[in-house]
Amino acid sequence: MNPLRRSSTRINMQITAILAMDSSLLIWSKNGLPWHIPEDMKRFKEFTTGGIVVMGRNTYLSLPERFRPLPNRRNIVITRTEIDGVECYSSIELFISAMQKKTVEQVWLIGWASLYDQFFARGLVDRVELTLLDWEHEWDIRVSEFCSDFHEISSTEFSQGRFITLVRNS
Ligand SMILES: NC(=O)c1ccc[n+]([C@@H]2O[C@H](COP(=O)([O-])OP(=O)(O)OC[C@H]3O[C@@H](n4cnc5c(N)ncnc54)[C@H](OP(=O)(O)O)[C@@H]3O)[C@@H](O)[C@H]2O)c1
Repeated sequence: MNPLRRSSTRINMQITAILAMDSSLLIWSKNGLPWHIPEDMKRFKEFTTGGIVVMGRNTYLSLPERFRPLPNRRNIVITRTEIDGVECYSSIELFISAMQKKTVEQVWLIGWASLYDQFFARGLVDRVELTLLDWEHEWDIRVSEFCSDFHEISSTEFSQGRFITLVRNS
């Protein structure tokens, strides 16, 4: 078993992945979002404002400059390349250990593909706030087949698809 696999004694915080994808588990890889869905932006903001967001270096650098760092949130970047003025950790292990020292309760994992995959593969994600878009797009990066490890606890339809909350199977 991966030594970082979640167990109640070792990792006490909740890690929630927030992501949008289509029904074939594809996410968009190019910089910037391929849509402008105010409901989705609003939801992202409501969830994450005041909290801790963790992301890979490409995601951080893909944020428009006026939103970088994301305002009113503690921004954390996983990277082996320090970014001036940004709280960075050179591995997921170091990030988890730093969060544990300060008894952090909740972290939002905001991407991108490589980080989603690593967090899912290690069983580190407790909850997923998913925007499942019901339209086809030229999305090209497949995220891990995480769905079978989770079950849906709520779902709300909106104009472009569904907002779904999933929690890890116990
Ligand atoms: N559509 C969108 O909204 C959106 C958003 C974000 C990204 N993207 C795009 O999605 C594509 C794929 O992005 P990605 O998955 O490569 O992005 P990512 O996860 O945001 O960033 C990857 C980088 O994060 C660091 N990293 C990842 N895992 C690490 C680990 N275990 N330890 C230390 N550092 C780690 C590495 O940075 P270092 O090389 O510095 O070590 C790695 O190069 C890119 O083209 C990106 O621009 C799109």
